[in-house]
Amino acid sequence: EQSAVITIDGPGGAGKGTIAREMARELGWHLLDSGAIYRLLALASLRENIDPGNVVRLAERAEALDIGFIVEGENAGAALLEGERVDAAIRDESCGERASVLAADPTIREALKARQRAFRQPPGLVADGRDMGTVIFPDAPVKIFLTASAGERARRRHKQLMEQGVTANLDDLLQELQARDARDSQRQTAPLKPADDAFTIDTTEQSIDAVIQTVMERVKARL
Ligand code: C5P
Repeated sequence: EQSAVITIDGPGGAGKGTIAREMARELGWHLLDSGAIYRLLALASLRENIDPGNVVRLAERAEALDIGFIVEGENAGAALLEGERVDAAIRDESCGERASVLAADPTIREALKARQRAFRQPPGLVADGRDMGTVIFPDAPVKIFLTASAGERARRRHKQLMEQGVTANLDDLLQELQARDARDSQRQTAPLKPADDAFTIDTTEQSIDAVIQTVMERVKARL
Protein backbone atom coordinates (compact mmCIF):
# COMPACT_ATOMS: atom_id res chain seq x y z
CA GLU A 1 0.00 0.00 0.00
CA GLN A 2 1.47 3.33 -1.15
CA SER A 3 1.16 6.35 1.12
CA ALA A 4 -1.17 9.22 0.20
CA VAL A 5 -0.17 12.06 -2.11
CA ILE A 6 -1.74 15.45 -2.75
CA THR A 7 -0.58 16.94 -6.04
CA ILE A 8 -0.61 20.69 -6.66
CA ASP A 9 0.17 21.70 -10.24
CA GLY A 10 -0.07 24.97 -12.09
CA PRO A 11 1.89 27.82 -13.67
CA GLY A 12 4.49 29.89 -11.83
CA GLY A 13 3.13 32.41 -9.35
CA ALA A 14 -0.26 30.71 -8.86
CA GLY A 15 0.60 30.09 -5.19
CA LYS A 16 1.57 26.39 -5.43
CA GLY A 17 4.73 26.65 -3.36
CA THR A 18 3.19 28.54 -0.45
CA ILE A 19 0.09 26.38 -0.38
CA ALA A 20 2.00 23.09 -0.66
CA ARG A 21 4.34 24.11 2.16
CA GLU A 22 1.49 25.16 4.43
CA MET A 23 -0.51 21.98 3.73
CA ALA A 24 2.50 19.74 4.37
CA ARG A 25 3.05 21.55 7.66
CA GLU A 26 -0.59 21.25 8.75
CA LEU A 27 -0.79 17.57 7.84
CA GLY A 28 2.71 16.73 9.09
CA TRP A 29 3.50 15.25 5.66
CA HIS A 30 6.59 15.36 3.44
CA LEU A 31 6.98 18.07 0.81
CA LEU A 32 8.25 17.81 -2.75
CA ASP A 33 9.06 21.08 -4.55
CA SER A 34 9.70 19.47 -7.93
CA GLY A 35 10.47 22.81 -9.58
CA ALA A 36 13.43 23.17 -7.22
CA ILE A 37 14.84 19.89 -8.57
CA TYR A 38 14.74 21.26 -12.14
CA ARG A 39 16.21 24.53 -10.86
CA LEU A 40 19.04 22.67 -9.08
CA LEU A 41 19.92 20.87 -12.30
CA ALA A 42 19.76 24.23 -14.09
CA LEU A 43 22.12 25.80 -11.55
CA ALA A 44 24.60 22.93 -11.86
CA SER A 45 24.50 23.22 -15.67
CA LEU A 46 25.07 27.00 -15.54
CA ARG A 47 27.95 26.70 -13.08
CA GLU A 48 29.58 23.89 -15.03
CA ASN A 49 28.96 25.48 -18.43
CA ILE A 50 27.11 22.46 -19.75
CA ASP A 51 25.57 23.22 -23.13
CA PRO A 52 21.75 23.16 -22.69
CA GLY A 53 21.58 21.19 -25.96
CA ASN A 54 23.84 18.40 -24.68
CA VAL A 55 21.01 16.19 -23.48
CA VAL A 56 23.11 13.07 -22.94
CA ARG A 57 25.52 14.89 -20.64
CA LEU A 58 22.63 16.66 -18.85
CA ALA A 59 20.76 13.42 -18.25
CA GLU A 60 23.93 11.90 -16.78
CA ARG A 61 24.40 15.00 -14.64
CA ALA A 62 20.77 14.74 -13.50
CA GLU A 63 21.25 11.12 -12.39
CA ALA A 64 24.37 11.98 -10.40
CA LEU A 65 23.13 15.28 -8.97
CA ASP A 66 23.84 15.54 -5.25
CA ILE A 67 20.87 17.49 -3.91
CA GLY A 68 18.92 17.81 -0.71
CA PHE A 69 16.44 19.92 1.21
CA ILE A 70 16.55 21.12 4.79
CA VAL A 71 13.61 19.36 6.44
CA GLU A 72 13.21 21.02 9.81
CA GLY A 73 13.67 24.34 11.56
CA GLU A 74 13.42 27.88 10.31
CA ASN A 75 15.25 27.08 7.06
CA ALA A 76 12.95 24.17 6.20
CA GLY A 77 12.58 23.80 2.44
CA ALA A 78 15.95 25.38 1.64
CA ALA A 79 17.65 23.60 -1.26
CA LEU A 80 21.15 22.16 -1.14
CA LEU A 81 23.48 21.44 -4.05
CA GLU A 82 26.48 19.32 -3.06
CA GLY A 83 25.75 20.31 0.53
CA GLU A 84 25.79 24.07 -0.21
CA ARG A 85 22.68 26.16 0.48
CA VAL A 86 21.57 27.53 -2.88
CA ASP A 87 17.95 28.53 -2.19
CA ALA A 88 18.56 32.17 -3.19
CA ALA A 89 20.58 31.23 -6.30
CA ILE A 90 17.96 28.83 -7.70
CA ARG A 91 15.17 31.45 -7.32
CA ASP A 92 16.91 33.71 -9.80
CA GLU A 93 15.08 33.93 -13.13
CA SER A 94 18.25 32.75 -14.92
CA CYS A 95 17.69 29.38 -13.20
CA GLY A 96 13.93 29.45 -13.83
CA GLU A 97 14.54 30.09 -17.50
CA ARG A 98 17.21 27.40 -17.85
CA ALA A 99 15.08 24.97 -15.82
CA SER A 100 12.19 25.38 -18.23
CA VAL A 101 14.49 24.79 -21.23
CA LEU A 102 15.94 21.59 -19.69
CA ALA A 103 12.50 20.47 -18.50
CA ALA A 104 11.23 20.34 -22.08
CA ASP A 105 13.49 17.37 -22.82
CA PRO A 106 12.04 13.86 -22.27
CA THR A 107 15.43 12.22 -21.48
CA ILE A 108 16.15 14.78 -18.78
CA ARG A 109 12.64 14.41 -17.29
CA GLU A 110 13.04 10.64 -17.24
CA ALA A 111 16.37 10.96 -15.40
CA LEU A 112 14.63 12.88 -12.59
CA LYS A 113 11.55 10.68 -12.23
CA ALA A 114 12.65 8.10 -9.65
CA ARG A 115 14.18 10.82 -7.51
CA GLN A 116 10.82 12.63 -7.33
CA ARG A 117 8.83 9.45 -6.64
CA ALA A 118 11.18 8.60 -3.74
CA PHE A 119 9.64 11.51 -1.79
CA ARG A 120 6.47 9.44 -1.40
CA GLN A 121 6.95 8.18 2.16
CA PRO A 122 4.62 7.64 5.10
CA PRO A 123 2.64 9.37 6.43
CA GLY A 124 2.07 11.18 3.12
CA LEU A 125 3.36 13.69 0.58
CA VAL A 126 2.33 17.08 -0.78
CA ALA A 127 3.96 17.50 -4.20
CA ASP A 128 3.94 20.68 -6.27
CA GLY A 129 4.99 21.23 -9.87
CA ARG A 130 3.70 20.97 -13.42
CA ASP A 131 3.18 17.22 -13.92
CA MET A 132 2.71 15.85 -10.39
CA GLY A 133 -0.89 14.76 -11.05
CA THR A 134 -0.45 13.80 -14.71
CA VAL A 135 2.89 11.92 -14.82
CA ILE A 136 4.69 11.51 -11.50
CA PHE A 137 1.80 10.52 -9.21
CA PRO A 138 -1.11 9.69 -11.55
CA ASP A 139 -2.79 7.64 -8.79
CA ALA A 140 -2.86 10.54 -6.27
CA PRO A 141 -6.23 10.61 -4.46
CA VAL A 142 -6.31 14.43 -4.37
CA LYS A 143 -5.16 16.52 -7.33
CA ILE A 144 -5.32 20.29 -7.37
CA PHE A 145 -4.63 22.61 -10.29
CA LEU A 146 -4.01 26.23 -9.29
CA THR A 147 -4.31 29.08 -11.75
CA ALA A 148 -4.34 32.87 -11.59
CA SER A 149 -4.31 35.57 -14.24
CA ALA A 150 -0.85 36.32 -15.66
CA GLY A 151 -1.07 39.92 -14.42
CA GLU A 152 -1.80 38.82 -10.87
CA ARG A 153 0.99 36.22 -10.93
CA ALA A 154 3.48 38.84 -12.14
CA ARG A 155 2.34 41.22 -9.37
CA ARG A 156 2.86 38.52 -6.73
CA ARG A 157 6.32 37.73 -8.04
CA HIS A 158 7.14 41.45 -8.06
CA LYS A 159 6.00 41.83 -4.44
CA GLN A 160 8.04 38.79 -3.40
CA LEU A 161 11.17 40.21 -5.03
CA MET A 162 10.64 43.66 -3.49
CA GLU A 163 10.36 42.02 -0.07
CA GLN A 164 13.71 40.35 -0.71
CA GLY A 165 15.17 43.71 -1.63
CA VAL A 166 15.49 42.82 -5.32
CA THR A 167 14.50 45.49 -7.86
CA ALA A 168 12.50 44.20 -10.78
CA ASN A 169 10.34 45.59 -13.54
CA LEU A 170 6.73 44.41 -13.55
CA ASP A 171 6.46 44.35 -17.36
CA ASP A 172 9.68 42.33 -17.67
CA LEU A 173 8.40 39.88 -15.08
CA LEU A 174 5.11 39.51 -16.94
CA GLN A 175 6.92 38.78 -20.18
CA GLU A 176 9.28 36.25 -18.60
CA LEU A 177 6.36 34.53 -16.94
CA GLN A 178 4.37 34.32 -20.15
CA ALA A 179 7.37 32.98 -22.09
CA ARG A 180 7.91 30.28 -19.46
CA ASP A 181 4.18 29.39 -19.38
CA ALA A 182 4.14 29.04 -23.15
CA ARG A 183 7.18 26.75 -23.14
CA ASP A 184 5.82 24.66 -20.25
CA SER A 185 2.35 24.31 -21.79
CA GLN A 186 3.40 23.66 -25.37
CA ARG A 187 6.09 21.03 -24.85
CA GLN A 188 5.42 17.48 -26.04
CA THR A 189 6.48 15.73 -22.83
CA ALA A 190 4.52 16.32 -19.61
CA PRO A 191 3.08 19.69 -20.65
CA LEU A 192 1.56 21.94 -18.01
CA LYS A 193 -2.12 20.98 -17.90
CA PRO A 194 -4.65 19.82 -15.31
CA ALA A 195 -5.01 16.05 -14.85
CA ASP A 196 -8.44 14.81 -15.99
CA ASP A 197 -9.39 14.25 -12.36
CA ALA A 198 -7.88 17.48 -10.99
CA PHE A 199 -9.86 20.13 -9.12
CA THR A 200 -9.03 23.57 -10.54
CA ILE A 201 -8.93 26.63 -8.31
CA ASP A 202 -8.48 30.15 -9.69
CA THR A 203 -6.54 32.03 -7.02
CA THR A 204 -6.60 35.46 -8.73
CA GLU A 205 -8.95 36.95 -6.18
CA GLN A 206 -8.50 34.54 -3.29
CA SER A 207 -6.28 34.77 -0.27
CA ILE A 208 -3.79 31.99 0.48
CA ASP A 209 -5.84 31.08 3.58
CA ALA A 210 -9.06 30.75 1.60
CA VAL A 211 -7.38 28.48 -0.94
CA ILE A 212 -5.83 26.32 1.79
CA GLN A 213 -9.23 25.94 3.43
CA THR A 214 -10.83 24.81 0.15
CA VAL A 215 -8.05 22.30 -0.47
CA MET A 216 -8.16 21.01 3.12
CA GLU A 217 -11.92 20.38 2.88
CA ARG A 218 -11.28 18.38 -0.25
CA VAL A 219 -8.50 16.41 1.39
CA LYS A 220 -10.68 15.58 4.40
CA ALA A 221 -13.51 14.42 2.14
CA ARG A 222 -11.19 12.17 0.13
CA LEU A 223 -8.85 10.61 2.67
O1 C5P B 1 7.89 25.85 -10.27
P1 C5P B 1 9.20 26.47 -10.69
O2 C5P B 1 9.07 27.84 -11.25
O3 C5P B 1 10.22 26.39 -9.62
O4 C5P B 1 9.73 25.53 -11.87
C1 C5P B 1 10.79 25.90 -12.71
C2 C5P B 1 10.62 25.23 -14.07
O5 C5P B 1 10.82 23.82 -13.92
C3 C5P B 1 9.23 25.37 -14.68
O6 C5P B 1 9.10 26.53 -15.47
C4 C5P B 1 9.09 24.11 -15.51
O7 C5P B 1 9.64 24.29 -16.80
C5 C5P B 1 9.96 23.10 -14.80
N1 C5P B 1 9.17 22.15 -14.04
C6 C5P B 1 8.66 21.06 -14.71
N2 C5P B 1 7.98 20.10 -14.05
C7 C5P B 1 7.78 20.19 -12.74
C8 C5P B 1 8.27 21.31 -12.02
C9 C5P B 1 8.95 22.28 -12.70
O8 C5P B 1 8.81 20.96 -15.92
N3 C5P B 1 7.14 19.21 -12.12
